[in-house]
Amino acid sequence: NEQIKTNEKDHLIFGGIDTIDLAKKYGTPLYVYDVNRIRANARSFVNQFEKLGVKAQVAYASKAFSSVAMLQVAKQEGLSLDVVSQGELYTALKADFPVGKIHLHGNNKSHAELKMAIENKIGCIVIDNFHEIELLDQLLNESNQKMDVLIRVTPGIEAHTHDYILTGNEDSKFGFDINSGQAEEAFKRLLKSDQIQLKGLHCHIGSQIFETEGFVLAVKRLFKLMNDWKINDQFDPAVLNVGGGFGIRYTDEDQPLPLEDYVTALVEEIKAQANAYQMEFPEIWIEPGRAIVGNAGITLYEVGSKKEIPNVRNYISVDGGMTDNIRPALYDAKYEAVIANKVTAPKTYEGSIAGKCCESGDMLIWDLRLPEVVAGDILAVFSTGAYGYSMASHYNRFAKPAVVFVEDGKDKLVVERETYQDVSRYDLSYEQWRN
Ligand code: LLP
Repeated sequence: NEQIKTNEKDHLIFGGIDTIDLAKKYGTPLYVYDVNRIRANARSFVNQFEKLGVKAQVAYASKAFSSVAMLQVAKQEGLSLDVVSQGELYTALKADFPVGKIHLHGNNKSHAELKMAIENKIGCIVIDNFHEIELLDQLLNESNQKMDVLIRVTPGIEAHTHDYILTGNEDSKFGFDINSGQAEEAFKRLLKSDQIQLKGLHCHIGSQIFETEGFVLAVKRLFKLMNDWKINDQFDPAVLNVGGGFGIRYTDEDQPLPLEDYVTALVEEIKAQANAYQMEFPEIWIEPGRAIVGNAGITLYEVGSKKEIPNVRNYISVDGGMTDNIRPALYDAKYEAVIANKVTAPKTYEGSIAGKCCESGDMLIWDLRLPEVVAGDILAVFSTGAYGYSMASHYNRFAKPAVVFVEDGKDKLVVERETYQDVSRYDLSYEQWRN
C-alpha cells in the first residue's frame, strides 16, 4: 500500500503528520484528509484535459464529501461542482463557490430547490424528468429568467468495476429512457422552450469503474441517439457530460487506471464521433467524486474490547462503525487498515473489526492481519474519504465525528465533532407536545 509512511516511533504518518498525535488532539473516531492529495487528484483530470487542448469542466461530485472547506479547496483547484440537493447547494453557496460553475442534479428536484437554483443563477440544471421541465418552465416564466440545462438520458449502459451491462432499456429512476421515445420527446420539448436553454446531454453509467470501455460505449450511444433523433439538424450540443464513476483502490482487488487514461479515452472517442457525425466537438464535462477524495481520507478509531472465540474468530471493537462508514454494511465494501501506533510490527494476529452499533452487520473489516492488539491502540482505515462522512448517520444516537484537514505540516478541524446536545437538539419533550 503506497499510502503507508511511518516515523521513528513506528506511527503512521498521513499528509506529513503523526496520526497518533491527531487521535490524541482531536479524539476518535476521526476523519483525516490530506489536502495535497485532494489537489493532486483534481489536477490529474484538469491537467490532462489541458494537455490535450480540450475545453472541459471537471465538476466535483460533492455527494462524496461535502463541507464548506472541502468545496473551497475544489474552488481553488478550478473545479466546477455537482450538487444533488438543496443541502448540497446551500453548502456550496456558504462556501462562496462560483455560482456559474454549479450544476444541479436530482431525480425529484423540489420547487424550493429549483427556485434556489434560479435565484442564485447557478450554471446549469441537469434535467431528469417531465415534471421538472414543467416546474422549471413555470418558475422561469414567473421570474422572467433563463437557465442553461443538460438533459439526462439513460443510455442503457450500466458499468461497475470491471463489468458493464448493456441493457436495451435501462431500469433506472434517473433520467429519460431512450427506447420508449421519452428522451426524444423531452428533447423536443426542451428545444421549444424560450426560457430553458438546452446546452447538451448528460449520462452517468455507474461508480467505481476500472475500464474505459463503458464510457466509450456511452459516448457512442449518445452520438447515435442524436443522429437517430435528427436533433443534430436543429441542435449542436455544446456540452457532453459523461458523469462520474472513476474507480479507486481500496484493496488489492481493485486495479484502477491512472485518472488521465479516462480523460484521454473520452477525448479520443468524442473527437471520433463528432467527426463521424459531422457535429461540432462539444465541451466535455465529467463529475468525479470518489476519485477526488476517496484515497485522500482515512479514519482513525480507538480499539476497545476484544472477543476471542476459539477456533472461530476474533472480534476487535472500535469506537465507531456503520455510523461513520456504512459502506461495508451496505455494499460489502472492503478496506485496508493498520494499527497506527505499531504499523510495521509483525502481523501475528487475525481479527475482524467491529463497530459499536447494536447491529450484527456493523462490521468494518473481516479477518484482518494485525499485530497483537490491545485496548487503546489506534486503528487507521484507508481510503475512507468518499461516502464516509457524507453518509454518516445518528443511529444509536452517535454524534458524527470531526473532520481534520492536514496540509503543509498543519492540521486543523474543518468540521467540529458533534455533541449529544447537537444530536438531541430538535427533540421536543412530551410536555411540549402535550401543551
Ligand atoms: N454524477 C452522478 C450523476 C452520480 O450519480 C454520481 C454518483 C457521481 C457523478 C459521482 O460518482 P463517483 O465519481 O463518486 O463514483 N454511495 C456509493 C456511491 C454512490 C454514487 C452515486 N452517484 C458508494 O459509497 O460507493
